[in-house]
Amino acid sequence: MTEHLKIDAPATERRLDDMAQGLVGAPLDRPEGPLKVTGRATYANEWQVDGMVHGVMVRVPGNSGRVVLANRAEVAAMPGVLAVIDDPRLLRNPAQGTANEAPVQGPQEAAYLGQLIAVVVAQQFEQARHAAQRLEVTLEDAEKVAVDPADAALEPQEDQTVAQGDLDRAMAEAEHAIDVTYTTPSHSSAPMEPHAAIASWEGEQLTLRASYQMLKYNRNELADALGIHPDRVRILSPYVGGGFGSKLGLAPESVAAALAARETGRPVSVALMRPQVFEATMRRSETLQRVRLAADAEGRLTGVGHEARVSNLPSETFAEPVLQATHFLYSGAHRHSSMDLARVHRLCAGSVRAPGEAVGVTVLESAMDELAAKIGMDPVELRRRNIPEKDPVSGKEFSSRRFREALDSGAEAFGWVDRPETRTRSEGEWLIGYGMASAARVNILMESQARVRLAPDGSVQVETDMTDIGTGTYAILGQIAGEMLGLPIERVEVRLGDTDLPPASGSGGSWGAASSGTSVYVACQAIRTMIAERLGVAETDLTLKDGQATFANQTRPLAEILDGDEIVKEGQVTPGDTSKAVRQATFGAYFAEVAVHAASGETRVRRMHGSFAAGRILNAKTARSQCLGGMIFGIGMALTEELAFDPRHGHVVNHNLAEYHVPVNADVPQITVELLEERDDWANPLQAKGIGELGICGAGAAIVNAIYNATGVRVRDYPATLDKVI
Ligand code: MOS
Repeated sequence: MTEHLKIDAPATERRLDDMAQGLVGAPLDRPEGPLKVTGRATYANEWQVDGMVHGVMVRVPGNSGRVVLANRAEVAAMPGVLAVIDDPRLLRNPAQGTANEAPVQGPQEAAYLGQLIAVVVAQQFEQARHAAQRLEVTLEDAEKVAVDPADAALEPQEDQTVAQGDLDRAMAEAEHAIDVTYTTPSHSSAPMEPHAAIASWEGEQLTLRASYQMLKYNRNELADALGIHPDRVRILSPYVGGGFGSKLGLAPESVAAALAARETGRPVSVALMRPQVFEATMRRSETLQRVRLAADAEGRLTGVGHEARVSNLPSETFAEPVLQATHFLYSGAHRHSSMDLARVHRLCAGSVRAPGEAVGVTVLESAMDELAAKIGMDPVELRRRNIPEKDPVSGKEFSSRRFREALDSGAEAFGWVDRPETRTRSEGEWLIGYGMASAARVNILMESQARVRLAPDGSVQVETDMTDIGTGTYAILGQIAGEMLGLPIERVEVRLGDTDLPPASGSGGSWGAASSGTSVYVACQAIRTMIAERLGVAETDLTLKDGQATFANQTRPLAEILDGDEIVKEGQVTPGDTSKAVRQATFGAYFAEVAVHAASGETRVRRMHGSFAAGRILNAKTARSQCLGGMIFGIGMALTEELAFDPRHGHVVNHNLAEYHVPVNADVPQITVELLEERDDWANPLQAKGIGELGICGAGAAIVNAIYNATGVRVRDYPATLDKVI
């Protein structure tokens, strides 16, 4: 029996605050952590499957035209080669993971240079790699296609349009106004673990060992691609070495492995090489963003304008939702937002680390800094003055919002009061500056299911096809079950990453912990109710702690109450009316100190602080780690990260971690994180909102604003590399 909770009304109780075990919120270690750091966690390409052979994927050399394998027979005859496969189904773009898509049919037309078009299968990996290198791919009837968004056809995204009042008039009549245009480059999700899959068929049943974020969708996608029923597909993904969006949807290696295993009758392993991950999985769109801000003499916003241009392949629907938080972050009666999607032949654009806000809030917050400088007002004060009472576009109440507290508390913790005047502080050859920015991210709940088994000995098992992409799911789901059933964490086992288990929300969009956590909560609540019924007491009068049940002035061991029985319950949560009735979002504030070298323009981040509010914190350690990671990627966005595209053919030039620079230890200073106490009754019965991506949504702006404070140079073209700062 599945207990189903549809969230149609705000929670009236804060049950987790009343529970006795004290697990939820505690900074517990991740139970799988030791496995990961000692190499004992089995990642996708590390499984050893009997009889396994190896596939290596081959890319197209151009961005349009019909694919022809010129020397297929010759390659097929090379030593050890078992198959050369160029099935059109390989040409599926990496999907977004949220919808079933029709399989690609018809002739193989190349869409972008680097697209993975064929797979060569051989007994040994080296044989497959050698043969793949020898395969000659040519393109017939290639045409000249747009690869730069500036040259491309634009499609207006009507659903992003906001038009309220008269922004042009507000700008003309404003005491202070700015009209600035920023650009942000394309980003790679750059997970440490490259995408890999091992496919094996037993009769009509396919098992795929792979590395994904949203298994129930990935299973449907793979079934769609192969034209088979999802019941025939099982995906195992117990450990994921980073996703950052690139593993939300099916990537090319899985279809390749499945087709190759079918054709050869052998289990086939296909691992993408690092350049293939950069060239053929997913990118964040580059953006062009114009921001207009109009303010009165006191720095109150009268107008907010935000227009953006993003890009994607001609066949793709995803458009980086750059404006998402602009709609609710600040007040201003006159508003205008619009977005265009440019159609370009670059690799598929999709969700990468907080799609939308990561670059949208960053640019908005850079523009706010420009306005503060123009007015001559403290940037924190400018933000404080523009916190809207209600969502300024929809008129809805905020479900919970400790934005002002994050600004104030963050400023206090950082020592913002010591901020220098522009270009007035130096230490030797280094110019010192402070900068700040707000953080904002929408909150999303996704349908999720879990099964909880309370064994006769009073131990508990949580089972769901939820993933842990390094974010702490194993820990958090165990904490919720242990809290609800009154068991120490050692007595809780969490099983994840197997589509044979109840389908979960998956990990994405910061919804994972709250969505899958609520399903565990619902199942545990049902188990508590059964225990209470056995005892003839109300569930709310039952206290469970350390394997003991206390009720009506007596205490008995849980195992004794179970009397040899196992209790199994499934919980399911689906979003309901509360997701539409109020504006649900998370907020925070970032502060950064930088040193910029006066001669070279090199920027070093010296310290950073972030204060965040995201509802109940389910695990203080994993939540803090997520915020640290987000802020570190903010350093990358501000200073180094940028996919470079060849202007002739639109392919990725810097397709490895040596040339695509994410911050490393030497780039990361001491970072402090403060998590503000908050409960969001509208979000779910946990009163928790998503925190996974909040740490990156504006972080880069704090650094670029600090560069301005240090140097007086305003960089409007991210990242702020030294050539732009000097
Ligand atoms: Mo996230 S970019 O939705 O994995």
